Amino acid sequence: MDKQRLKMKILFKYFFPVFGLIFLCSCKNKEEKKSLDITPVAETTFFKEAYRPQFHFTPKKMWMNDPNGLVYNNGIYHLFYQYYPADIVWGPMHWGHATSKDLVYWEHKPIALFPDENGYIFSGSAVLDQNNTSGLGTPDNPPLVAIFTYHNANKEEEGSNDFQTQGIAYSLDNGESWTKYHSNPVLGNDEGIRDFRDPKVFWHEPAKSWIMVLVAGDHAKIYSSTDLISWSYLSEFGKEVGAHGGVWECPDLFPLKVSDSGEEKWILIISVNPGAPNGGSGTQYFIGEFDGTSFTSNQKAAKWLDWGTDNYAGITYNHEPNGQRIFIGWMSNWDYAGNTPTKEWRSAMTVPRKLSLIKSGNSYELTNYPLEDFGTIFKTGIKTDLELPAGKSESIAFDNYNQSEIRFTTTDRKFELSFKNNLNEELILTIDGDQELFLLDRTNSGKIDFKEEFAQSIHKMPITNLPEGEIEVWILMDWSSIEVFINTGQYVMTSQVFPNEDYTNLVFKNTSSSILTISALEINRAESIW
Ligand code: FRU
Repeated sequence: MDKQRLKMKILFKYFFPVFGLIFLCSCKNKEEKKSLDITPVAETTFFKEAYRPQFHFTPKKMWMNDPNGLVYNNGIYHLFYQYYPADIVWGPMHWGHATSKDLVYWEHKPIALFPDENGYIFSGSAVLDQNNTSGLGTPDNPPLVAIFTYHNANKEEEGSNDFQTQGIAYSLDNGESWTKYHSNPVLGNDEGIRDFRDPKVFWHEPAKSWIMVLVAGDHAKIYSSTDLISWSYLSEFGKEVGAHGGVWECPDLFPLKVSDSGEEKWILIISVNPGAPNGGSGTQYFIGEFDGTSFTSNQKAAKWLDWGTDNYAGITYNHEPNGQRIFIGWMSNWDYAGNTPTKEWRSAMTVPRKLSLIKSGNSYELTNYPLEDFGTIFKTGIKTDLELPAGKSESIAFDNYNQSEIRFTTTDRKFELSFKNNLNEELILTIDGDQELFLLDRTNSGKIDFKEEFAQSIHKMPITNLPEGEIEVWILMDWSSIEVFINTGQYVMTSQVFPNEDYTNLVFKNTSSSILTISALEINRAESIW
């Protein structure tokens, strides 16, 4: 064979196929990137679309679910989230990203984590590896490390059970860019547990190690590591306790001091879907002890962080600089999350809420309440007191309840509040002290028929431990959501709502047989944070 022919043969046999493959791959990548690009919407309508929240976090476009990787570092609160950039329904998961300096105003950032050959990027957490235990940064520039679940959809389709594993990625520029660890996954799934996901990692000083809590179907599993890379199994919790109407998801484990006391307890938050008290997805918690190896609790029944239908998969910030435990939840429910009537994006986060622990008698309760600073976005409104004779109502007009806060105090326990619009749609809140119940009725609140489960029933919350005397009520309404906090977050209900027109009247109704006194009533307009 002459040299020329040999050259051509080598070119055809080895060079062209390899190059062709590289060329094809690069085209495929471009194709994929192109469909993931976020194209700006016309300025006049952007972020003012129907039902777009004005003081809650939403992605610019497309589908969002769980908050992920809540971590504070160097002046920045990071919010990552489950994100599908190609549609407004759930799909191959990425980690979207936003940052904030104050947890009030947010800046949208480029997508942080893309799916790869190990799978989609499901929920997880992030830590600052201050001592560079992972070796992924340097002592001078410690890495932020994200710990997440890989969901391998191909393996799932093929019928294997080990399609969820845990992987890590790191950032050396405070979250601006991310590199996946070269030997992912760092925690395999040898037992073949189908729902094996949502790792929450934190540094445990007494044990001088990283602790990971994740869920495994009907219970939580705890692991430890000294370098975030190699993990050893420690213990499990929960098979026999709490709510088990569906799989457990999105755990979080952290210590909290009982308010006004030095007593410390550990809280384990577990989302469950379905199985929530008002249908579909909900967030339960357990109060107990953690000794560096096991979480134990003598609590048998579930306690609910939020009784509304729309606070799910919430977790708390790692490394919060002011020693607060701050929680953000996804304001939706898997029963109808993919059907809600928005077009450009789907779903919002709850406002960031401070968690506190209170003790009444021998029982502990977790409260959740918006951060104090958060109140600064509420401006100029109505200030008044109300005295209503038995059976009477009073209607207060306000140009737009849909972007507002309502606050008041009262010693009474039997009345109704109903938000109304000109179409006779109404959202009714009832405090019924006789039955020790709070009710939220959205069955005639606006658009409800996009999914049967949305307005099947009136939502109930037992308020059995409400103290005697004055209580404070704080309500946040933001176009497609209402958050009700009773007695500084002892009882909380979060709900989506989709009125066809703005609510312009709030009717207070005295349903008791004595005078109703509503004090320090404030109705304030919220400024847009965008
Ligand atoms: C909770 C959840 C997680 C999972 C993620 C997938 O809403 O089901 O368990 O990691 O969503 O998007």
